[in-house]
This record gives sequence, C-alpha cells and structure tokens, in this order.
Amino acid sequence: MAHSTMNKPIYPSAGGEWHQLRLAPGALAADAGHGVLPDQTIVVLDGHIAWIGSDAALPAQYQSLARFDAGGRLATPGLVDCHTHLVYGGQRANEFALRLSGASYEEIARAGGGIVSSVRATREADEDTLFALASPRLQALLSEGVCAIEIKSGYGLALEHERKQLRVARRLGEHFGVTVRTTFLGAHALPPEYAGRSGDYIDLVCQQMLPALAGEGLVDAVDVFCEKIAFSLAETERVFQAAQSLGLPVKLHAEQLSDMGGSALAARYGALSCDHIEHLGANGIAAMRQSGTVAVLLPGAYYTLRDTHLPPIQALRDAGVPMAVSTDHNPGTSPALSLLLMMNMACTLFRLTAPEALAGITSHAARALGLQNGHGALGNGRPANFVLWDLSDAAELAYWLGQRPACTVVRQGRIAIDGLNLGVAHG
Ligand code: NIG
Ligand code: FE
Repeated sequence: MAHSTMNKPIYPSAGGEWHQLRLAPGALAADAGHGVLPDQTIVVLDGHIAWIGSDAALPAQYQSLARFDAGGRLATPGLVDCHTHLVYGGQRANEFALRLSGASYEEIARAGGGIVSSVRATREADEDTLFALASPRLQALLSEGVCAIEIKSGYGLALEHERKQLRVARRLGEHFGVTVRTTFLGAHALPPEYAGRSGDYIDLVCQQMLPALAGEGLVDAVDVFCEKIAFSLAETERVFQAAQSLGLPVKLHAEQLSDMGGSALAARYGALSCDHIEHLGANGIAAMRQSGTVAVLLPGAYYTLRDTHLPPIQALRDAGVPMAVSTDHNPGTSPALSLLLMMNMACTLFRLTAPEALAGITSHAARALGLQNGHGALGNGRPANFVLWDLSDAAELAYWLGQRPACTVVRQGRIAIDGLNLGVAHG
C-alpha cells in the first residue's frame, strides 16, 4: 500500500521556476473562488503546514530545508469522501440487471431485495472477510487523493453485525493511515426478523445498539434513512433523541425519493448534513441554512437510479447552504469508487461549477463530517493533508472521465502515495 517514503516528512519547493507549487481554486479557502494562485510553496513541519505562500516570499528560516520539486503542479487540499457505505458483503449486480429491465429501486426493496440482501451477505461475513473486501475499495479512493472518509454501518441491523462493520471501519483507518469517521446507521432498513414491528426495532436501535456501540467508541455520528421504504419522521426523531442524549452529532438520508420533511427535522437537531435531498423543498432549505447543515449531493445514486428529479441546486446556492459531493459508495445505488467521477457528475448532471464541485469534495465535505479543522483546506498551522496533481488546470479534476490523474498524496505530513515520484529524487 504505502510507498517507502511514507514516513518521510516533506518540505517542498524553495524557489526557482521549476520548484514551485500551484494552488487550485480552493486550495487556500476552497469556497472563496480565489482562482489559481501561481508559484506557491508549502512548507511542512511535524505533520503540519508551517507556511504557505508565494514562493518569492519564502521566509529565510525555511530556505535551507530539504526541497521537493513540485514542478509547478496543481495542489489541492486532500479530498474528503463524506458519505460511504464501504463495508459490506456480496454485491448486487443482479439488481442492476433487474433495473435495466424496468424494475425500480423501491420495487426491488419491497420484494425483499435491496438493502436487506446486502444485510444477509454482511451477516454471513466475518470481520477479516469484510476487511479484505473493503480494502481494495478504500485503496481505489485513496489513490485519487482521499485523505478522510466517512464509513457507515447499516448492513448488519443487529448489534453484533453493526459492531463488526464499525470495527472494520476503524481498522481500515488504522491500517491505511487515513482519517475515518464512523457513522452508526442502524436505522437503515427494517431487518426481516422485525417485519411489521418497526417500533420495536427502533427501540432496539435506541436503547441497546446505539448505547453499546457508542460506549465502545465505535460511533462518531448517527444517521437514519428517513423514507417511505425505510423509517418515518417520528422514528427518525427517536433515533436523533437517543444520539443527542449520548452527545453524538446526527446526519440524515433525507428526501431522496420523496419530501418527508426529514431535512427540517435534522436541522432542528443541528445535523452535520442532510444527504441525497433530491426532493428537498423550501422549508428544508431554510432550516438547513439556519442550522449550518451541509447539503450532501450524491450524483452516483442519482445516475445509477436514473433519477430525473434534480436536487434544488440553485435554491441551495441562493440560500448559501454549503454543498458537498460524495460517492455514496454502496452495493445498491452507487457502486462508485471515484470521487473525481462524482465531481464530473455533479457538474454535468447537477450543474455545479468546477470550483463548487472542488469545494464539494474538500472544504464542505470536511464540514459535513465535523472535520473542518483538520481537513479540506490548506492554511498555516493546519494538518498537512494535500494532493499534487499532474494537471495544469483545476477544472481538469472534473473534466476527465475515467482517467485517474497521477498524483502525490500527503496525509498528515507523510507522503502516503507518491505517484509523481517526488520522494525519490530529493531527500
Ligand atoms: O445512500 N438510500 C439509502 N441507502 C443507500 C443505499 C443502500 C443500498 O441500496 O444498499 C444510499 O443510497
Ligand atoms: Fe447512503
């Protein structure tokens, strides 16, 4: 996985035309629309950005530091994938075929497929198997510059199986040296053994599963799938109350297939984010603006389900609600393992501008995870999480389809992936 220079601190670029970094729009403040800042130098010390600024203004104290030649390449903050269901057993290519012959996501779910079929496969798998299955998925995302990722439970739907998923999520973070935020999504679907007893299942989620898993340090946030085929508004609120009593932040799968009013409810609980939101209405937008809740756009699911109901992008923009973009990686509605492809889809399908989409996979995504102090932007004193790209224009991040541009990824000041071979020539 990691390059041999993994443990070497980097001190890029101390002058000269060929020893400069170029920062993308958003590299300094990803949503401020700065445009590209040329000739920038980043000084990394002790895992943090000690200084960032115009190469010509590099303070004398840093001029003797070992230097890596960034060749004038584009630099961006490390990417943040703020909504994934990365840990699961099996796959659902059969549903892909069913949808191609006309079945809808809801019909498949009601017929016992959908989430519940991934629950069966996940329950059958042990931790090592789930770790082995999730590892290449995570590596695919990391190879494109992801420095922080959210991983949800929600395919166990019983204490021991939800625990298994969350433990694997933690283990992935430790093994790959990447920031992982875990989200408990016990209220993702009704497990078959609770058919017709959703109130009892929500009791279990609130009174047993969540307190136990939170007590084990496995839960950073709590999510619910609020939808006609999942849980009602009242059930969602019960889970939010349980989260609140444990001091855990909430987020919500909201208004994906219909406007249930989930976003306004989530905003009342100070939600970090409301995700999907294709059917979000004016009330929800106003509530999210007031609470500072991030709108997480998931174009991979929109595309896969051949949805035609666009999220209210212009209204969110007008209201100043921050918009993040994520893969929503999951085996049913978004088997996507490229955040850059999601950036492309956010532009092409949802009409985000390229700088908006870049902010969507950096600063706004970090905020959707409560990680805005450590991820998603570059600045003096911040942890050194950034990516150098072999690209000349930041818009190329959103432009290429299916190409994985070469990049060097620095996580917490370490060269984690050195696709540009910067670590080889300099010491
Ligand atoms: O984010 N919408 C609900 N949950 C997932 C889909 C999960 C699945 O179908 O397995 C989502 O799209
Ligand atoms: Fe999801």
